[in-house]
Amino acid sequence: MEFLDKLVIPQPDYNLNLLNYFLILGLTIFLAYSGVLFGSMTLSVYFRNKSKKATDNNAKLSRDYADLITDNWIYSFGLGIVPLLSIIFIYTQLLHKQPVAIVTYLTIAFLFYLISLLLVHKYKKSLHLSLLFSALKNKVGESDEVSAEIESLNNSTNTTKGMTGTWSVVLLFISMWIFVGAVTFAMNPDSWVFGNSLTVLFSGASILKFLQFITAALAFTAISFVFRNLYWDAERKHYTEEYVEYAKNFNLWLALVTGLILPIFIVASLFIIPKTSLNPQIFAAVLLSLLLLLVILQQIYLVLKGNKNSFIRYAFYSFIVVFFLMAFIDKAAFSVGNRAHVLVLDQEYKVHKEEFLASLGIEAAPIDGAEIYTGRCAACHRDEDSPLAPAHKNIMQKYLDQADPLTALVQFIQNPTPVNPQWSPMPNQGLTPQEAQAVAEYMLEKYSTK
Ligand code: HEC
Repeated sequence: MEFLDKLVIPQPDYNLNLLNYFLILGLTIFLAYSGVLFGSMTLSVYFRNKSKKATDNNAKLSRDYADLITDNWIYSFGLGIVPLLSIIFIYTQLLHKQPVAIVTYLTIAFLFYLISLLLVHKYKKSLHLSLLFSALKNKVGESDEVSAEIESLNNSTNTTKGMTGTWSVVLLFISMWIFVGAVTFAMNPDSWVFGNSLTVLFSGASILKFLQFITAALAFTAISFVFRNLYWDAERKHYTEEYVEYAKNFNLWLALVTGLILPIFIVASLFIIPKTSLNPQIFAAVLLSLLLLLVILQQIYLVLKGNKNSFIRYAFYSFIVVFFLMAFIDKAAFSVGNRAHVLVLDQEYKVHKEEFLASLGIEAAPIDGAEIYTGRCAACHRDEDSPLAPAHKNIMQKYLDQADPLTALVQFIQNPTPVNPQWSPMPNQGLTPQEAQAVAEYMLEKYSTK
């Protein structure tokens, strides 16, 4: 995405690391909201197809699902569109100059998402309209002219309802699949070389992650339904007892079954994270999410058997934490894989800063090779070989013997490679090209006489 790349502002590494935390936040909100949106729309369409007339339990359930989190456009905007745009922007920053089209995939997902949101809101309206029409039809006499009018309006509303409902689910499905696939793809830099749009959608890793998303989405939808309609708003709802029983049983069983399957996917996702990216934090997050799911299942069971609807709130809040942990696992896997690249971007920032200051007429502080050497290198490189690093006097001859000692030295300093197994490899010191040049010049001057 060329034009998005123009928005990239060079950032120092500490800002880039901060972006990682915003990424977790964005992913948590977006996946939790879109999960419920996807789950509730799917179930709404399912029960609409099952219902025989506009007033039976299935039709009611269909409307309640459609209303679950669509009260207002603001929700879709604040919990769907804004987080998704932030996620795209963060990936644009973090993957700037990486040879991978993650941002393009995310942008395609965004377009599908937007159209699907429009349809969702249209669908919801037509569901309620069709209830109105069917009530009106009963009120108005058969032979009336008005009745024919209502009939034709009712028919067209039913067509809209059918079309918008089905298409909103299909588009949301595609959008989330691409989204989850792209985020999964980003976690594994090794796959970028041979990866393409097919990898994004059909790799084992993407499919596994997408199944994890669907399972979590259905579980959280069911819990949210009980939380909102049978606990939070229960007073205002005027449900019949029979309907409450019906809605509660269906949702709690759905939550139980999907809640039991979800841990399988969470554990399995450990196997698709590149081994080099696995770290104790990821294992801790997996363990914690399994424990939380256990608590959630227990709460659901209590509501089901003990009839204490208020327990559902613990399940609801805990599930948001589960979404957070799942986002954390994905983000952690991604940022370990991307760490080296953050250093590259950090260098770019330093160059950019100098250019910027220079353009303002502010001379950057003169770079002093000797100062950098004592400040940054002498910590490891002593006068004699130490367990930390070789003494420079012992390795410099190799460089002095080369045709172009300066270039060779600068190259090593900017991009150290393992040389002598006696020492561990030297960590990249993150110097700008100018700084590396200055230190190298200083070292050559200091050691060329010896
Ligand atoms: C954290 C410790 C550490 C710091 C700080 C450090 N180095 Fe090193 N450096 C090493 C180690 C360890 C080696 C040996 C690496 C090897 O043999 O694989 C090494 C090796 C080298 C070599 C020799 C490479 C060769 O071809 O054998 C050069 C040159 C060098 N460092 C320059 C620098 C400069 C310049 C700085 C400061 C900007 C610096 N180092 C800072 C640990 C460090």
